Amino acid sequence: MISRRDFVKQTTIATTAAVVMPSQFLFGNATEGKVRLAFIGTGLRGQDHVELALRRTDVEIVAICDTQQLMIDNTLQLFKKAERPLPKIFTGDNYAYRKLLELKNIDAVIISTPWEWHFTMAMDAMQAGKHVGCEVIAGATIDEMWQLVHTSEQTKMNYMMLENVCYRRDVMAIMNMVRQGMFGEVVHLQGGYQHDLREVKFNDGKQPYGGGVEFGDKGFSEAKWRTQHSVNRNGDLYPTHGVGPLAMMVDINRGNRFVSLVSYASKTRGLHNYIVNKGGENHPNAKVRFKLGDVVTTMIKTQNEETILLQHDTSLPRPYSLGFRVQGTKGLWMDVNKSLYIEDVSKDAHKWEEAKPYLEKYDHPLWKKFANDTVGAGHGGMDFFVLHQFVEAIKQNKPTPMDVYDAAVWCAITPLSEQSIALGGANVDFPDFTKGHWMYRKNNFALDEE
Ligand SMILES: NC(=O)c1ccc[n+]([C@@H]2O[C@H](COP(=O)([O-])OP(=O)(O)OC[C@H]3O[C@@H](n4cnc5c(N)ncnc54)[C@H](O)[C@@H]3O)[C@@H](O)[C@H]2O)c1
Repeated sequence: MISRRDFVKQTTIATTAAVVMPSQFLFGNATEGKVRLAFIGTGLRGQDHVELALRRTDVEIVAICDTQQLMIDNTLQLFKKAERPLPKIFTGDNYAYRKLLELKNIDAVIISTPWEWHFTMAMDAMQAGKHVGCEVIAGATIDEMWQLVHTSEQTKMNYMMLENVCYRRDVMAIMNMVRQGMFGEVVHLQGGYQHDLREVKFNDGKQPYGGGVEFGDKGFSEAKWRTQHSVNRNGDLYPTHGVGPLAMMVDINRGNRFVSLVSYASKTRGLHNYIVNKGGENHPNAKVRFKLGDVVTTMIKTQNEETILLQHDTSLPRPYSLGFRVQGTKGLWMDVNKSLYIEDVSKDAHKWEEAKPYLEKYDHPLWKKFANDTVGAGHGGMDFFVLHQFVEAIKQNKPTPMDVYDAAVWCAITPLSEQSIALGGANVDFPDFTKGHWMYRKNNFALDEE
């Protein structure tokens, strides 16, 4: 049997003459029915993934790595509850994960650490011959996106961003309708990340940690690191939940591409006001000057002349909504009012119609097939799919449904929007990470998957 290392060597030799995209290859891996995973970062999100992986008989969790003992202890509880063998533990310092990567019996890693670690960890993992499933986001700069692309190409290791919203049930039903032409030709799309993150704490609200107006060392989970990005950066810091599913609907990297964007940031009030209201004017954090505009609005133009409007809105009081709108020549869907309108199909002209019957009728085949497996999985069940698709791709030696080019171009929105805002709303161009291959690639996202 050909080993992964030999496979990589042979395919590298066979392809040095041309620039070859990883998705044109079978991905080599030493798996036989089981995927051997390791988890880097077992905070709240990492634990979600571990919990789902522990349900699977086709996954063996070999090792975990985290720098906080509390998170390791909580993760080990999940193993005990599932009555699965305990993993090897790597901890001690920020680079303990490199020891984990030396293990030979790991096929892939799931990275769920703070954003600033994703790039370095993913690069190290691919170079160590491990496939990467990485939480959003991929990196901080355009150069980092290029490095991820080149490294995935050179190592033949899959890089999949674990963008779960691509598998949200209503979004997939709408994608199904788009593909069947129900909305006509797509013209305009909207989405974003609109989530009041001023107080970050445990979901069940019972834990005594963090929350309130503390962040950094005194914060818990995301408050330890995420709020600092709002201090230092002004741009769309978290574009992929909104843009990922929309990109799939209009074939980005598969017959279409992002061409350019412009971004504007509103004034910055929300986080400061929150701290003053909750902690008082004399709280030390009341002196912090946040750079992130409360609402950052980005407009993307595509090669096929759709417009995509994205909003990042995390510092003001508001209910959660990703604010999807999918609009074509025949009608549109908006998720916030759970309604749609389709000309000559909707009963009353100019009147919204409840989307539910359509969402049921056009329920995506993947959801029909796996509905039972999604029970108990996070975010309404969609979390099941990202891990499932990642594991299946590795098991079957095939490319992941979302690849390094998707991660790169979706995440390029952040540095490009920072640049556009800094230049007063300038139009900035996207790089073509596919180097022209977007013209030939076919969109098979969620079409031929199991
Ligand atoms: N897709 C989704 O729906 C979703 C939901 C929540 C979070 N996320 C993403 O998941 C990632 C993690 O978020 P979270 O909420 O779990 O944050 P978290 O702070 O709870 O977890 C991060 C973990 O990484 C650990 N860590 C930090 N530096 C490390 C290092 N050098 N080596 C090993 N471990 C290290 C921390 O100790 C912590 O346990 C982020 O990218 C976040 O945006 C995605």
